Amino acid sequence: MRKILIFFVIVFVNAQLLKPIPEHIEYNKQKALLGKKLFFDPRLSIDNTISCASCHNVFKGGDDNRQFSIGVHHQIDKPMNSPTVFNAVFNIAFFWNGRAPTLKAQAEEANQNPKEMGMNRELLEKKLNKISEYKKLFKKVYGVDYINYDLVFDAIAEFEKALITPNSKFDLYLKGKVKLNKKEKEGFMLFKRYGCITCHNGINFGGNSYQKIGVVVKVYKIPRDLDRFYVTHNPDDKYVYKVPTLRNIALTYPYFHDGSVKTLKKAVKLMAYYNLGIELNNNETDKIVAFLKTLTGKKPKILDEK
Ligand code: HEC
Ligand code: HEC
Repeated sequence: MRKILIFFVIVFVNAQLLKPIPEHIEYNKQKALLGKKLFFDPRLSIDNTISCASCHNVFKGGDDNRQFSIGVHHQIDKPMNSPTVFNAVFNIAFFWNGRAPTLKAQAEEANQNPKEMGMNRELLEKKLNKISEYKKLFKKVYGVDYINYDLVFDAIAEFEKALITPNSKFDLYLKGKVKLNKKEKEGFMLFKRYGCITCHNGINFGGNSYQKIGVVVKVYKIPRDLDRFYVTHNPDDKYVYKVPTLRNIALTYPYFHDGSVKTLKKAVKLMAYYNLGIELNNNETDKIVAFLKTLTGKKPKILDEK
């Protein structure tokens, strides 16, 4: 059944299912710039040590290149690997298991997670309402005299909307502006022919469906942490995760929900074996990796704005 589905998709999916990232996206600039300030501010955490940027470095790949992040009180933020915040706005839902329906809900959970920022509504409101710079900014942007918890995360979510990375080599290729070299092109063909594209498609090459890891040959022996089952309680959702984006994938090592795979080459081989039942040789793997490297986009413009 699965093979038939994959064949169907390979035949009928054409390049239209792969959309370039738009160069501009609509967002409220004032709110986003306030959100940017908050995103980088460790005072949003209980011990003033951790900001969103501690685990999501937007000057690199939007993650932290660690297997597990470090949260407040020097805690190791197990068991999930920090995903990129770049282009997250295009995902269907947030977290590896999609438990947060909006960027705002996601950010509030991160803020309250005892292993991440360890904060709560009351404490954060108390803290921020004592900072005159924020008092002024919230007055200017939201017209309020009191800084409400919800507005803090409304602003952060607005900043995240602006974190898009357009004009990767692949997007310029889709727009007919550049050519892929031979290796990249062959990698793209393999990506389509072998069926990676059945799960990694759409604007984000992922982020738009929930899929199992280890479907064809056998269950991939990884810890089944916080998978989709925790959200739906449906036994079919064990080992199911939101398909991660492959945008900027060369920058966001280590890989998989548990950060257990260090190199892109190994991640590609494991994917082909466990999800498609194919043993890729080194040559094919290198080609797919060369193609995946064309998915690194330009840094979001908002990072240069004040
Ligand atoms: C201590 C590290 C840490 C901090 C601090 C942190 N995050 Fe995360 N973030 C993570 C981890 C780990 C996950 C994945 C957790 C999971 O899926 O269960 C994640 C997931 C996300 C996602 C989901 C991306 C997607 O596509 O599913 C977004 C967006 C995000 N964080 C934004 C933020 C924002 C905004 C803040 C600040 C309010 C923040 N994070 C603070 C580690 C952190
Ligand atoms: C059946 C759906 C499916 C197919 C087919 C598939 N993937 Fe995946 N891919 C996933 C899921 C789900 C994950 C997340 C698994 C995890 O973290 O445990 C993932 C993760 C990845 C990752 C790691 C991403 C990260 O941020 O950690 C890479 C790289 C990747 N896939 C590339 C590929 C390539 C290349 C192919 C084809 C050879 C492929 N995938 C085929 C569903 C799929």
